Amino acid sequence: MEINILGIESSCDDTSIAITQNRKILANVTANQEIHAEYGGVVPELASRAHQQNIIPSLDKALKEAQLELEDLDAIAFTSGPGLLGSLLVGTSFAKSLSLALDIPLIEVNHMRAHILAHMIETEDQINPEFPFLCLTVSGGHTQIIVVKSPYEMELLGETIDDAAGEAFDKAGKIMGLPYPAGPIIDQKAKLGNPQAFNFAKPRMKDYEFSFSGLKTSILYFLQKAVKENPEFIAENLNDLCASIQRTIIDILMDKLEKAAKDTGISRIAIAGGVSANSGLRQALKEREQNLAWQCYIPKFEFTTDNGAMIAINAYYKFLEKDFCDLSVVAKARKALSL
Ligand code: KG4
Ligand code: ZN
Repeated sequence: MEINILGIESSCDDTSIAITQNRKILANVTANQEIHAEYGGVVPELASRAHQQNIIPSLDKALKEAQLELEDLDAIAFTSGPGLLGSLLVGTSFAKSLSLALDIPLIEVNHMRAHILAHMIETEDQINPEFPFLCLTVSGGHTQIIVVKSPYEMELLGETIDDAAGEAFDKAGKIMGLPYPAGPIIDQKAKLGNPQAFNFAKPRMKDYEFSFSGLKTSILYFLQKAVKENPEFIAENLNDLCASIQRTIIDILMDKLEKAAKDTGISRIAIAGGVSANSGLRQALKEREQNLAWQCYIPKFEFTTDNGAMIAINAYYKFLEKDFCDLSVVAKARKALSL
Protein backbone atom coordinates (compact mmCIF):
# COMPACT_ATOMS: atom_id res chain seq x y z
CA MET A 1 0.00 0.00 0.00
CA GLU A 2 1.30 3.46 -0.87
CA ILE A 3 0.95 6.08 1.81
CA ASN A 4 1.40 9.75 0.92
CA ILE A 5 2.30 11.97 3.84
CA LEU A 6 2.69 15.74 3.97
CA GLY A 7 5.39 16.75 6.48
CA ILE A 8 5.50 20.32 7.81
CA GLU A 9 8.59 21.62 9.63
CA SER A 10 8.51 25.11 11.17
CA SER A 11 10.31 24.78 14.51
CA CYS A 12 13.01 27.39 13.94
CA ASP A 13 13.92 29.50 10.90
CA ASP A 14 13.31 27.11 8.00
CA THR A 15 9.83 26.61 6.56
CA SER A 16 9.99 23.18 4.97
CA ILE A 17 7.25 21.09 3.39
CA ALA A 18 7.80 17.59 2.08
CA ILE A 19 5.67 14.88 0.56
CA THR A 20 6.74 11.28 1.02
CA GLN A 21 5.39 8.03 -0.40
CA ASN A 22 6.17 5.37 2.17
CA ARG A 23 9.90 5.94 2.82
CA LYS A 24 10.63 7.72 -0.47
CA ILE A 25 10.62 11.49 -1.01
CA LEU A 26 8.41 12.95 -3.73
CA ALA A 27 9.14 16.59 -2.79
CA ASN A 28 11.14 18.41 -0.12
CA VAL A 29 10.80 22.19 -0.39
CA THR A 30 12.57 24.53 2.05
CA ALA A 31 12.26 28.30 2.29
CA ASN A 32 15.23 29.67 4.27
CA GLN A 33 14.93 32.91 6.18
CA GLU A 34 17.81 35.23 5.27
CA ILE A 35 16.46 38.01 7.50
CA HIS A 36 18.14 36.72 10.69
CA ALA A 37 21.74 37.10 9.43
CA GLU A 38 21.82 40.85 10.09
CA TYR A 39 20.79 40.30 13.74
CA GLY A 40 23.45 37.67 14.53
CA GLY A 41 20.88 35.00 15.47
CA VAL A 42 17.28 33.90 14.94
CA VAL A 43 14.75 36.57 15.96
CA PRO A 44 11.65 34.57 17.04
CA GLU A 45 9.03 37.17 16.06
CA LEU A 46 10.56 37.61 12.59
CA ALA A 47 10.77 33.82 12.17
CA SER A 48 7.03 33.39 12.89
CA ARG A 49 6.13 36.13 10.42
CA ALA A 50 8.33 34.59 7.70
CA HIS A 51 6.75 31.14 8.29
CA GLN A 52 3.31 32.72 7.74
CA GLN A 53 4.49 34.14 4.42
CA ASN A 54 6.36 31.03 3.25
CA ILE A 55 4.06 28.19 4.22
CA ILE A 56 1.42 28.33 1.46
CA PRO A 57 3.89 28.95 -1.43
CA SER A 58 6.00 26.06 -0.09
CA LEU A 59 2.98 23.75 -0.01
CA ASP A 60 2.04 24.71 -3.59
CA LYS A 61 5.59 24.07 -4.75
CA ALA A 62 5.77 20.69 -3.00
CA LEU A 63 2.47 19.51 -4.52
CA LYS A 64 3.64 20.57 -7.96
CA GLU A 65 6.99 18.79 -7.56
CA ALA A 66 5.31 15.62 -6.30
CA GLN A 67 2.70 15.87 -9.06
CA LEU A 68 -0.03 15.26 -6.51
CA GLU A 69 -3.25 16.99 -5.45
CA LEU A 70 -4.23 17.64 -1.84
CA GLU A 71 -6.81 14.87 -2.21
CA ASP A 72 -4.01 12.32 -2.80
CA LEU A 73 -2.62 12.83 0.72
CA ASP A 74 -3.23 10.19 3.41
CA ALA A 75 -2.09 12.16 6.45
CA ILE A 76 -0.77 15.55 7.58
CA ALA A 77 2.29 15.57 9.85
CA PHE A 78 3.86 18.50 11.65
CA THR A 79 6.57 19.32 14.19
CA SER A 80 4.92 19.90 17.55
CA GLY A 81 8.21 20.64 19.37
CA PRO A 82 10.79 21.31 20.62
CA GLY A 83 11.41 24.71 19.02
CA LEU A 84 10.40 28.35 19.06
CA LEU A 85 6.77 28.52 20.13
CA GLY A 86 5.66 31.20 17.65
CA SER A 87 7.27 29.29 14.78
CA LEU A 88 5.78 25.96 15.90
CA LEU A 89 2.31 27.54 16.15
CA VAL A 90 2.33 28.47 12.45
CA GLY A 91 2.99 24.86 11.34
CA THR A 92 0.70 23.39 13.99
CA SER A 93 -2.34 25.52 13.09
CA PHE A 94 -1.73 25.02 9.39
CA ALA A 95 -1.52 21.24 9.82
CA LYS A 96 -4.68 21.13 11.93
CA SER A 97 -6.64 23.16 9.35
CA LEU A 98 -5.46 20.97 6.48
CA SER A 99 -6.29 17.72 8.25
CA LEU A 100 -9.73 19.05 9.19
CA ALA A 101 -10.46 20.32 5.69
CA LEU A 102 -9.27 17.12 3.99
CA ASP A 103 -10.67 14.85 6.71
CA ILE A 104 -7.45 12.83 6.99
CA PRO A 105 -5.36 11.86 10.06
CA LEU A 106 -3.14 14.37 11.85
CA ILE A 107 0.25 13.18 13.15
CA GLU A 108 2.46 15.13 15.56
CA VAL A 109 6.21 14.63 15.33
CA ASN A 110 9.02 15.29 17.80
CA HIS A 111 11.68 17.34 15.97
CA MET A 112 14.63 15.56 17.61
CA ARG A 113 13.32 12.07 16.83
CA ALA A 114 12.71 13.21 13.25
CA HIS A 115 16.35 14.32 12.84
CA ILE A 116 17.37 10.75 13.73
CA LEU A 117 14.77 9.00 11.57
CA ALA A 118 15.92 11.02 8.54
CA HIS A 119 18.43 8.13 8.32
CA MET A 120 15.55 5.84 7.35
CA ILE A 121 14.61 7.82 4.23
CA GLU A 122 14.97 5.65 1.13
CA THR A 123 17.15 7.25 -1.54
CA GLU A 124 19.49 5.82 -4.13
CA ASP A 125 22.61 6.95 -2.29
CA GLN A 126 21.76 6.70 1.41
CA ILE A 127 22.28 3.46 3.35
CA ASN A 128 19.73 2.95 6.13
CA PRO A 129 21.17 1.71 9.44
CA GLU A 130 19.82 -1.41 11.07
CA PHE A 131 18.48 -1.12 14.61
CA PRO A 132 19.84 -0.66 17.22
CA PHE A 133 22.23 2.17 16.39
CA LEU A 134 23.72 5.11 18.27
CA CYS A 135 22.97 8.63 17.11
CA LEU A 136 24.86 11.81 17.94
CA THR A 137 22.36 14.60 17.30
CA VAL A 138 24.11 17.93 17.01
CA SER A 139 22.21 21.09 16.08
CA GLY A 140 21.90 24.73 17.03
CA GLY A 141 19.69 23.82 19.97
CA HIS A 142 20.70 20.26 20.94
CA THR A 143 23.60 17.91 21.56
CA GLN A 144 22.47 14.41 22.47
CA ILE A 145 23.66 10.81 22.34
CA ILE A 146 20.79 8.41 21.81
CA VAL A 147 20.39 4.65 21.58
CA VAL A 148 17.92 4.16 18.74
CA LYS A 149 16.33 0.76 19.42
CA SER A 150 13.57 1.06 16.83
CA PRO A 151 11.64 3.89 15.10
CA TYR A 152 9.51 3.98 18.24
CA GLU A 153 11.97 3.35 21.04
CA MET A 154 14.84 5.74 21.71
CA GLU A 155 16.88 6.07 24.89
CA LEU A 156 18.65 9.33 25.70
CA LEU A 157 22.09 8.51 27.12
CA GLY A 158 23.12 12.12 27.75
CA GLU A 159 22.99 15.66 26.46
CA THR A 160 24.46 19.11 26.91
CA ILE A 161 23.85 20.89 30.19
CA ASP A 162 24.29 24.34 28.61
CA ASP A 163 25.11 25.38 25.01
CA ALA A 164 24.64 23.04 22.05
CA ALA A 165 27.48 22.17 19.65
CA GLY A 166 26.00 24.38 16.90
CA GLU A 167 25.71 27.21 19.38
CA ALA A 168 29.39 26.75 20.26
CA PHE A 169 30.28 27.20 16.56
CA ASP A 170 27.95 30.18 16.18
CA LYS A 171 29.03 31.95 19.38
CA ALA A 172 32.74 31.40 18.69
CA GLY A 173 32.11 32.86 15.23
CA LYS A 174 30.33 35.86 16.68
CA ILE A 175 33.32 36.56 18.97
CA MET A 176 35.55 36.50 15.85
CA GLY A 177 33.16 38.85 14.02
CA LEU A 178 31.72 36.22 11.63
CA PRO A 179 28.07 36.46 10.53
CA TYR A 180 25.32 34.09 11.75
CA PRO A 181 25.23 31.12 11.37
CA ALA A 182 29.00 30.86 11.73
CA GLY A 183 29.15 27.02 11.72
CA PRO A 184 29.44 26.57 7.94
CA ILE A 185 31.94 29.48 7.66
CA ILE A 186 34.18 28.06 10.40
CA ASP A 187 34.00 24.71 8.59
CA GLN A 188 35.27 26.31 5.34
CA LYS A 189 38.06 28.35 6.96
CA ALA A 190 39.13 25.38 9.11
CA LYS A 191 40.10 23.52 5.94
CA LEU A 192 42.84 26.13 5.37
CA GLY A 193 44.11 26.28 8.95
CA ASN A 194 46.19 24.32 11.45
CA PRO A 195 43.95 22.51 13.96
CA GLN A 196 46.81 22.33 16.50
CA ALA A 197 47.67 26.05 16.34
CA PHE A 198 45.76 26.99 19.52
CA ASN A 199 44.65 24.94 22.50
CA PHE A 200 41.39 25.53 24.32
CA ALA A 201 40.50 23.74 27.54
CA LYS A 202 38.04 20.85 27.26
CA PRO A 203 35.46 20.37 30.02
CA ARG A 204 35.49 17.31 32.26
CA MET A 205 31.89 16.11 32.27
CA LYS A 206 30.45 12.99 33.84
CA ASP A 207 28.95 10.09 31.86
CA TYR A 208 27.52 11.31 28.57
CA GLU A 209 27.00 14.94 29.51
CA PHE A 210 28.37 17.75 27.35
CA SER A 211 29.16 21.37 28.15
CA PHE A 212 30.20 24.06 25.68
CA SER A 213 29.74 27.32 27.59
CA GLY A 214 33.24 27.11 29.14
CA LEU A 215 34.80 26.79 25.69
CA LYS A 216 33.04 29.95 24.54
CA THR A 217 34.36 31.84 27.59
CA SER A 218 37.91 30.57 27.13
CA ILE A 219 37.86 31.63 23.43
CA LEU A 220 36.56 35.05 24.47
CA TYR A 221 39.24 35.63 27.12
CA PHE A 222 41.99 34.29 24.88
CA LEU A 223 41.00 36.60 22.02
CA GLN A 224 40.47 39.67 24.23
CA LYS A 225 44.04 39.31 25.49
CA ALA A 226 45.50 38.58 22.05
CA VAL A 227 43.71 41.51 20.38
CA LYS A 228 44.97 43.87 23.10
CA GLU A 229 48.53 42.94 22.11
CA ASN A 230 47.84 42.86 18.36
CA PRO A 231 44.59 44.44 17.05
CA GLU A 232 44.95 42.41 13.82
CA PHE A 233 45.30 39.07 15.65
CA ILE A 234 41.94 37.61 14.57
CA ALA A 235 42.28 38.61 10.91
CA GLU A 236 45.87 37.36 10.77
CA ASN A 237 45.04 33.99 12.38
CA LEU A 238 41.45 33.38 11.30
CA ASN A 239 42.00 30.06 9.52
CA ASP A 240 44.08 28.63 12.38
CA LEU A 241 41.55 29.88 14.96
CA CYS A 242 38.67 28.25 13.05
CA ALA A 243 40.59 24.98 12.64
CA SER A 244 41.54 24.87 16.34
CA ILE A 245 38.04 25.72 17.58
CA GLN A 246 36.49 23.12 15.24
CA ARG A 247 39.02 20.49 16.36
CA THR A 248 38.20 21.17 20.03
CA ILE A 249 34.43 20.88 19.50
CA ILE A 250 34.87 17.65 17.51
CA ASP A 251 37.22 16.18 20.15
CA ILE A 252 34.62 16.87 22.86
CA LEU A 253 31.91 15.17 20.78
CA MET A 254 34.01 12.18 19.74
CA ASP A 255 35.27 11.44 23.28
CA LYS A 256 31.71 10.86 24.47
CA LEU A 257 30.63 9.06 21.33
CA GLU A 258 33.53 6.62 21.67
CA LYS A 259 32.60 6.03 25.30
CA ALA A 260 28.97 5.36 24.33
CA ALA A 261 30.00 2.88 21.62
CA LYS A 262 32.29 1.09 24.06
CA ASP A 263 29.77 0.98 26.93
CA THR A 264 26.80 -0.17 24.80
CA GLY A 265 28.76 -2.43 22.45
CA ILE A 266 26.98 -0.81 19.49
CA SER A 267 29.21 -0.02 16.51
CA ARG A 268 26.57 1.34 14.14
CA ILE A 269 27.00 5.08 14.62
CA ALA A 270 24.90 7.82 13.04
CA ILE A 271 25.08 11.59 13.22
CA ALA A 272 22.17 13.97 12.71
CA GLY A 273 21.27 17.66 12.92
CA GLY A 274 22.74 20.83 11.39
CA VAL A 275 26.29 20.27 12.70
CA SER A 276 26.41 16.83 11.03
CA ALA A 277 27.13 18.82 7.85
CA ASN A 278 30.54 19.67 9.33
CA SER A 279 33.34 18.22 7.22
CA GLY A 280 35.69 17.77 10.20
CA LEU A 281 33.07 15.77 12.09
CA ARG A 282 32.40 13.65 9.01
CA GLN A 283 36.13 13.02 8.65
CA ALA A 284 36.45 12.09 12.35
CA LEU A 285 33.74 9.44 11.86
CA LYS A 286 35.37 8.07 8.72
CA GLU A 287 38.64 7.67 10.63
CA ARG A 288 36.84 5.61 13.28
CA GLU A 289 35.37 3.37 10.58
CA GLN A 290 38.98 2.40 9.90
CA ASN A 291 40.41 2.45 13.42
CA LEU A 292 37.50 1.22 15.55
CA ALA A 293 35.56 -0.82 12.96
CA TRP A 294 32.49 1.41 13.29
CA GLN A 295 29.83 1.44 10.59
CA CYS A 296 29.03 5.13 10.24
CA TYR A 297 25.88 6.70 8.83
CA ILE A 298 26.37 10.26 7.67
CA PRO A 299 23.25 11.99 6.35
CA LYS A 300 23.04 13.57 2.92
CA PHE A 301 23.50 17.36 3.21
CA GLU A 302 19.84 18.05 2.47
CA PHE A 303 18.81 15.98 5.52
CA THR A 304 21.25 17.58 7.97
CA THR A 305 19.46 20.90 8.45
CA ASP A 306 15.80 21.18 9.31
CA ASN A 307 13.59 19.68 6.60
CA GLY A 308 10.05 18.46 6.05
CA ALA A 309 11.13 15.04 4.79
CA MET A 310 12.36 13.97 8.22
CA ILE A 311 8.98 14.93 9.68
CA ALA A 312 7.14 12.92 7.02
CA ILE A 313 9.32 9.80 7.45
CA ASN A 314 8.83 9.85 11.22
CA ALA A 315 5.08 10.24 10.61
CA TYR A 316 5.11 7.27 8.23
CA TYR A 317 6.17 4.99 11.09
CA LYS A 318 3.48 6.52 13.31
CA PHE A 319 0.92 6.02 10.50
CA LEU A 320 1.72 2.30 10.43
CA GLU A 321 0.87 2.16 14.14
CA LYS A 322 -2.20 4.40 13.68
CA ASP A 323 -0.62 6.80 16.16
CA PHE A 324 -2.74 9.84 15.27
CA CYS A 325 -3.65 12.92 17.30
CA ASP A 326 -6.78 15.05 17.42
CA LEU A 327 -7.28 18.80 17.15
CA SER A 328 -6.62 19.34 20.85
CA VAL A 329 -2.88 18.77 20.25
CA VAL A 330 -0.70 21.75 21.20
CA ALA A 331 2.78 22.91 20.20
CA LYS A 332 5.41 22.73 22.94
CA ALA A 333 8.65 24.75 22.97
CA ARG A 334 10.25 22.20 25.29
CA LYS A 335 9.67 18.56 24.62
CA ALA A 336 11.51 15.48 25.90
CA LEU A 337 12.80 12.94 23.39
CA SER A 338 10.45 10.34 24.87
CA LEU A 339 7.28 12.30 23.97
O1 KG4 B 1 19.57 21.38 12.90
P1 KG4 B 1 19.73 22.81 12.51
O2 KG4 B 1 19.53 23.19 11.06
O3 KG4 B 1 18.75 23.71 13.31
C1 KG4 B 1 18.48 23.52 14.65
O4 KG4 B 1 19.23 24.08 15.46
O5 KG4 B 1 17.51 22.75 14.93
O6 KG4 B 1 21.19 23.27 12.99
C2 KG4 B 1 21.69 24.57 12.80
C3 KG4 B 1 23.10 24.63 13.36
C4 KG4 B 1 23.69 26.04 13.43
O7 KG4 B 1 24.24 26.24 14.71
C5 KG4 B 1 24.78 26.02 12.35
O8 KG4 B 1 25.87 26.87 12.61
C6 KG4 B 1 25.21 24.57 12.40
O9 KG4 B 1 24.01 23.85 12.57
N1 KG4 B 1 25.90 24.15 11.17
C7 KG4 B 1 27.22 23.81 11.12
C8 KG4 B 1 27.51 23.49 9.78
N2 KG4 B 1 26.36 23.63 9.04
C9 KG4 B 1 25.39 24.03 9.92
N3 KG4 B 1 28.14 23.76 12.10
C10 KG4 B 1 29.39 23.38 11.74
N4 KG4 B 1 29.75 23.07 10.48
C11 KG4 B 1 28.85 23.10 9.48
N5 KG4 B 1 29.21 22.78 8.22
ZN1 ZN C 1 16.82 20.79 13.91
